[in-house]
Amino acid sequence: MTATLLSTCQDLRTAFERTRYDADSLLEALGEAAHAALGRSEPVPVRRASLGCGDLGVLIRLFLLVDDIPDEDAARALAPLTLVAAVEAGILGRVSPTSVRALLDIRPLDAGNGTRWIFSDLDGSMRPAPTAHDHVLGVGQASLSLLRGTPTTYASEILDVGTGCGVQAVHAAAVADTVTGTDISERSMVLAAATAALNGLTIELLEGSWFEPVAGRRFDRIVANPPFVVGLGTIEHSYRDSGLDLDGASRLMIEQAPNHLKPGGTAAILASWVHVEGEDWRTRVASWLPDHGIDAWILQRDVADPALYVGTWMRDGGLDPRDQTSAAVAQAWLQHFDDAHVDGIGFGFVYLRATDLPTDVLAEDLRHAFDDPLGNEAIAYFDRVTWLRENDPADAVFRLDPSTALEHVSLPGTEGWETEVVRVHRGNGPNWQHEIDELGAMLLAGMREDGLPLRDLVGLLASAQGLDENQLLDAAIELTVGLLRHGVIVPSSGAGS
Ligand SMILES: C[S@@+](CC[C@H](N)C(=O)[O-])C[C@H]1O[C@@H](n2cnc3c(N)ncnc32)[C@H](O)[C@@H]1O
Repeated sequence: MTATLLSTCQDLRTAFERTRYDADSLLEALGEAAHAALGRSEPVPVRRASLGCGDLGVLIRLFLLVDDIPDEDAARALAPLTLVAAVEAGILGRVSPTSVRALLDIRPLDAGNGTRWIFSDLDGSMRPAPTAHDHVLGVGQASLSLLRGTPTTYASEILDVGTGCGVQAVHAAAVADTVTGTDISERSMVLAAATAALNGLTIELLEGSWFEPVAGRRFDRIVANPPFVVGLGTIEHSYRDSGLDLDGASRLMIEQAPNHLKPGGTAAILASWVHVEGEDWRTRVASWLPDHGIDAWILQRDVADPALYVGTWMRDGGLDPRDQTSAAVAQAWLQHFDDAHVDGIGFGFVYLRATDLPTDVLAEDLRHAFDDPLGNEAIAYFDRVTWLRENDPADAVFRLDPSTALEHVSLPGTEGWETEVVRVHRGNGPNWQHEIDELGAMLLAGMREDGLPLRDLVGLLASAQGLDENQLLDAAIELTVGLLRHGVIVPSSGAGS
């Protein structure tokens, strides 16, 4: 299949460019309401809107709705690719002597720097389709969240572990000299190669498990959306099950990625971890890291209870929780969680940076909503960790990030309004919030580009408030380090930032 599929990609791309089968045109042609219906798997509004859209409408019905399309229309929309070639390549199947249907999903995606077209298996969202064991997943929420969570700074050699349809790899190619994708699935190798060819890119694709295909090699950046579903260690679907017990897939990725990073190289990995009774999740994930040579920033985006988790993934795999066979799966899965004392499943991002210094780990919750992409924030976070290693905060001058806001929440009390809580909010990036006290607010008020070093600010504050200067300095340093790690305050430009 590979050679014939690849041989169609040039003509397919020509057809897509001619018909403007790209992310912006799709939205423009369908309009917001039908475009939103596409996201909700409601074909009728999309079909109706696509009817007036000429060849672009045909491609929408062909690839996004998986409708049966008359030969004549399909041939016109796909030209110069012929129907014979498309059928031979496995892109289309014949449903009658005069009509065809898509056998593969091909859709445009614009993650912020222009359209990329992605090949994947049909996902059953518009026309029911069985999910094969080696189903190659299309672009889902996790793929998009990793795309937004991946740094976009230049990195010479990038590795995408579990490349699947190749979505991370083709985006990585925009900032890399070379991109390598690995996957255990033979079918993924075919579809990722087609995705690369359709986008006119060269990507090294290596079949094999985890890091085996790149043994002994190191990269400037590793990205991975691995099959991190936490389960019994069995494999139903290769796109989500690793065959490793519980959070073994995430553990393996986090343990092994450091061996494949060049000095200064970074990794952005989606991962999940179990919450075990009596164990702190942060200690669990941190224990997967070496004691030396890694800066790690671990962000927990959410925690699901076992029942919610099992139900969600069963539905994802096409199992109806009401069905009797499915009930047995749910029973075994939940029992396994019980036996392992799992009371929650956390998931999120793990960012790593290779250093030659003792390991520095910050594992924390980032469970609130935010809009800005996280990827470059991770690079900025690591820069701040470096700054903290090389500077004494007590001697540094800090200023507030211009997006920072101070919030006082007061409740009615016996004497009128009584301050309940004081918070600083960073108004961009991950929108971090920190609760501080009135002294903290006074300290921050004194921070400015041409202001005093922290030690001197604390001295003034201590004498004005009649407080012990040393104690206040310790507390101020703790507050400052926390705010600096989160980018709420930054060293002034004269402070070696
Ligand atoms: C969740 S999909 C991610 C696909 C794609 N990278 C994305 O972001 O959408 C996980 C991928 O990991 C692959 N995979 C499963 N087990 C693997 C293993 N042991 N080694 C490497 N890849 C594996 C699957 O075949 C699948 O393509």
